[in-house]
Amino acid sequence: MATNASRPLEGRHILLGITGSIAAYKAAMLCRLLKREGAEVQVVMTALAKQFITPLTMATLSRRPILVEFFDPENGQWNSHVSLGEWADLMLIAPATANTLAKMTAGVADNLLLTTYLSARCPVMVAPAMDLDMYAHYTTQRNLKELKEHGVGIIEPGSGELASGLEGKGRMAEPDEIVEQLKAHFAEKKKPLTGKHFVVTAGPTIEPIDPVRFISNHSSGKMGYAIAETLADKGARVTLVSGRTALPTPAGVERVDVLTAEEMYRATVAAFEEADGAVMCAAVADYTPAEVATEKLKKSDADLQIPLKRTRDIAAELGRTKGQKILVGFAMETQNEAANATQKLTKKNFDFIVLNSLREAGAGFRGDTNRVTLIDSTSQEELPLLTKREVAERIAQKIEQLLH
Ligand code: CTP
Repeated sequence: MATNASRPLEGRHILLGITGSIAAYKAAMLCRLLKREGAEVQVVMTALAKQFITPLTMATLSRRPILVEFFDPENGQWNSHVSLGEWADLMLIAPATANTLAKMTAGVADNLLLTTYLSARCPVMVAPAMDLDMYAHYTTQRNLKELKEHGVGIIEPGSGELASGLEGKGRMAEPDEIVEQLKAHFAEKKKPLTGKHFVVTAGPTIEPIDPVRFISNHSSGKMGYAIAETLADKGARVTLVSGRTALPTPAGVERVDVLTAEEMYRATVAAFEEADGAVMCAAVADYTPAEVATEKLKKSDADLQIPLKRTRDIAAELGRTKGQKILVGFAMETQNEAANATQKLTKKNFDFIVLNSLREAGAGFRGDTNRVTLIDSTSQEELPLLTKREVAERIAQKIEQLLH
């Protein structure tokens, strides 16, 4: 997402885990403060946490439904811990009870919050809250130490009056302190593409035949959107030139909607003039009907032929004018994959090309995973089966290398 130095939480996706502690009431204020800083907050609660603060309160404050169970009891919908983990820029468990800390350390996965923790690839922070003796107990201290060693950020509890009436360390840090720690975390996060502007093309083009019919392809746009999101996360300004998709615009990305190959050509060439590079992920039609009928074509008994003409090649045009700018292409091949991709690399003047083989299981158009090979003029790097977001990360890393 686009950075804003004075508001490091702006547009950040925060997964707020709430466990069963009396300090859960502070989660309401915490959620409000995070929203005020511009963050998107998705709350995941344990069943016990619901006894301390109501889902209604948290849903109202976060403006999103609260997740507790693996399945929504109302409609049976599956709450995917994997997609939650992917959505989040940071998972914050506040309050974190001794019980949850112990389960996290042991890898126990008996509620949605814990499975989400186990599958989260984002940074995780915990704000412990418990009685002083529980906090001081060697098991809790051992668990905190172990979590810290594995990169979990510990937001130290404060000392003072505890719910039990005792005085000591174990009180959850105050919401404003927690927010400060999150802000510091994001402000420090290195933004390697700050100041750079990238154009990303994504999705299919739609070539009308008549007012109701068209020629298109199976592209979902997922790969291009993942790239746009990743580049934005790394601080770049991103213009996403998108064909028709069902996907939400990633945070901080400027989206230009287009329909046809010709519209995509114009929007992309214009945006590239001011950009530092482009990633050509769209599945652009190579042919379009020579003429678009103004009225709906009526059928007859005879077969029908529709004359097609070539579209303009956007990538080739950018390759011709790019100079020092970075240009990344995609190739989707079913045979002689590497040879065909290398040919496109040279022909379109790409810095590197991402080869998708339709022969590989888990690769291609509509799924959430992809198996690709990154090819430049001197090397080929075959990547394992990865999520599209992970593939996007690898592509972004290669762009960073080229820039530096
Ligand atoms: N591309 C483009 N504009 C077009 C056609 C393709 O920008 N009019 C881009 C794609 O986004 C992709 C690369 O060029 O980055 C793919 O090259 P292309 O030759 O179109 O691949 P295929 O369509 O798979 O080619 P072929 O049909 O020749 O295999």
